[in-house]
Amino acid sequence: MLLDRIKPLDAILATAQRKSLKRTLGPIQLMLFGIGCIIGTGIFVLTSVGAQKAGPGLMIAFAIAGAVCIVAALCYAEIAAMVPVAGSAYTYSYATMGEFLAWTVGWALIMEYAIAASAVSVGWSGYFSGTILNEFLGIQLPQFLAAGPLAFGGEEGGFINLPAALIALVVTGLLIVGTSESAKVNAILVAIKVAALTAFVALTLTSPEFDADRFNPFLPAGLFGGWGTGVGAVGAAATMFFAYVGFDAVSTAAEETKNPQRNVPIGLIGSLLFCTVFYILVAAGAIGTIGGQPIFDATGFPLEAGSPELARQCAMPQYAGALVCSDEALAHVLRQIGFSGIGNLLGIAAFLALPSVILVLLFGQTRIFFVMSRDGLLPPLLSRVHPRFRTPHVVTAITGIAVAVAAAFFPVGQLADISNAGTLYAFLMVATAVMVLRRRDPTRERSFRVPFVWVVAPLTIVGCVLLFFNLPSQAMLFLPIWSAIGIVIYFLYSRRNSHLGRGIVEVIDDIEGEEKTVPIDTPRG
Ligand code: ALA
Repeated sequence: MLLDRIKPLDAILATAQRKSLKRTLGPIQLMLFGIGCIIGTGIFVLTSVGAQKAGPGLMIAFAIAGAVCIVAALCYAEIAAMVPVAGSAYTYSYATMGEFLAWTVGWALIMEYAIAASAVSVGWSGYFSGTILNEFLGIQLPQFLAAGPLAFGGEEGGFINLPAALIALVVTGLLIVGTSESAKVNAILVAIKVAALTAFVALTLTSPEFDADRFNPFLPAGLFGGWGTGVGAVGAAATMFFAYVGFDAVSTAAEETKNPQRNVPIGLIGSLLFCTVFYILVAAGAIGTIGGQPIFDATGFPLEAGSPELARQCAMPQYAGALVCSDEALAHVLRQIGFSGIGNLLGIAAFLALPSVILVLLFGQTRIFFVMSRDGLLPPLLSRVHPRFRTPHVVTAITGIAVAVAAAFFPVGQLADISNAGTLYAFLMVATAVMVLRRRDPTRERSFRVPFVWVVAPLTIVGCVLLFFNLPSQAMLFLPIWSAIGIVIYFLYSRRNSHLGRGIVEVIDDIEGEEKTVPIDTPRG
């Protein structure tokens, strides 16, 4: 009964056909697009959190997280090329596994996109306060305005992260008036980010400070730190997974790609491989020059990132300058090895480029809410479109305010871990959907087919489960609690109001698209 409401794929595809976007994107544009969405707070900020969890094993963590994303990306590519409409994993699940599971995916995607947008806002705030305010303007933002109450485990006087909340609201405003990032702006921001990271890698790896001994011990917290502890190389991989999130945007461009069978995988795997190699080199440069060993408790276990005890240790003179204590990891490394000017330039690069990552994530979130609302699963108010700006202003404003509140009060590492829990669930469902569609609809045209799908899709599932259970336990618990809230809402509101349940399928294009109501013969109940 619960899995009976499957949205007919033909109805969804009718949309895609009417949309028929021009195929203009080649592999390089796709890669640029991917890199633009991927490189952000993960590498610029969370590098210090990853080092606290794994020490030099951070390099392995980047490799593991990158590998899971590459197999997931292949699955995304097949299904996105086949069902190229708004709503991402939520829509794919609706067409394959039915409304209830699609609802849980849509609900989990809120964790992916909205909470990730909060995390990137907090990451931006670190660079804004450290580089722009402090280094350039000589202003020291008081601690109670620079960090949320839960940062440093509630100590050190954090009250609200004002810059993080403000940037989230500014980006929300831009989205409401209809700002979208042009390919040109994206290419410029990618160039800035890549130039900053290239300079970082070149300067650190050739620095006289670089010392191979700093990689010893290589795995101070082991490969597996233990389920739910969030430490060790795999625990760090579960956090650093955040540094790759955003690549799904490439798969959603499948229908605009020339020769997608060849170019989509090149774009996806190319951008992910590029970032993986870069991230590993960045980790090597950071650790090789200033060291990246975790700070341990008395039992020899790495202190929890963001905990009060770690904050206390970081305040001790012997840890002044430690990588694991920094809010602006990469700029900090360059300043420590005598390149303050370039460190500041890197800070400016992060300051300029991170808002575009917030924009992509918030945009993704509002479009998912929008589609869920047009399916009747969320109140119709959410799909109201602004008469002048032609944007879903109500849902954008609500989402933006929620993102700003989360950014104001929570630390970046916790937000990233919670976001990862939701994303891993969504990726797992996409891998499942690919296999279900291969069985149920084997002859339908696929412009891109996952090679060795019966190996790649199960590997994606195993990878997602592995990373999920290596998240810190609070982040892991967030998913079932969040899902339970979602399930209550589903049974109280969405199931009754579902358009599909009421026997109508709306073929939705996008905000601008016309709506076509198709009565269908669907079981009610
Ligand atoms: N991958 C994106 C980042 O690291 C979300 O900011």
